[in-house]
Amino acid sequence: MSKQPIGFFDSGVGGTSIWKEVIHLLPHENSIYLSDSSNAPYGEKSADDILKLSVKNTKKLLKLNCKLIVVACNTATTNAIDYLRSNFEVPFIGIEPAIKPAALSSKSKAIGILATKGTLSSALFARTSSLYASDLNVIEVIGKGLVERIENGLINTPETRELLQSYLEPMISAKIDYLVLGCSHYPYLIPILREMLPDGVQIIDSGRAVAVQTQKILELNSLISISEERGNHKLYTNASVEILTNIIKDVEINKKVEFLDF
Ligand code: DGL
Repeated sequence: MSKQPIGFFDSGVGGTSIWKEVIHLLPHENSIYLSDSSNAPYGEKSADDILKLSVKNTKKLLKLNCKLIVVACNTATTNAIDYLRSNFEVPFIGIEPAIKPAALSSKSKAIGILATKGTLSSALFARTSSLYASDLNVIEVIGKGLVERIENGLINTPETRELLQSYLEPMISAKIDYLVLGCSHYPYLIPILREMLPDGVQIIDSGRAVAVQTQKILELNSLISISEERGNHKLYTNASVEILTNIIKDVEINKKVEFLDF
């Protein structure tokens, strides 16, 4: 059982930011990653479509014998995790914008959230936001177009910077001291964001917290790998193998990237 892989899915290549944190913390685990890039972006789809795509990806990962599933996508988590948990047997780990740590740490009492339309309009996001940030000025901005640019490998370009500039402007005017990245694609923008944000603004993403939670749930369910060998990792995309290969080229592990029609 413990040798079974951990499954991951995302609307595309962005969830590899989460996958990297998990395999770094749990080097003896095997993994399978599904990059549903042919359906990206999820963020502009209806809640019903996001749910259907999440179910499709889950079924594929279960067919591939996964023991636990990390929904490496805020949009899929905030729209589908309750349904997935009640309809499938395996444990699910979701990812949500890290509003709580930002709200608790903010001194300026203003925080920025950059996320997709699907995440910002979800009931789960509204609940978390009103629970932890009701006494703060929360500047929510939809990162329209950013997922598409990252999916096409267009990260450090003048157009991406221009888009980011327009999204950051209202946050900078409101004097935020925390920027929450509410989409698993956005950590790939951190080097540019750091250049564009005033000194002192902290950027928070949820990757490390997801990895720690994954370890905890594997242990609780006696699913943790007891192997002493390093894990094997298979990453499947239904679009460009080249772009997925490129985005994980910094990770030196036993990995294979392949095209799969799913
Ligand atoms: N990585 C997804 C997320 O975390 C991107 C969603 C999209 O495809 O729009 O929300």
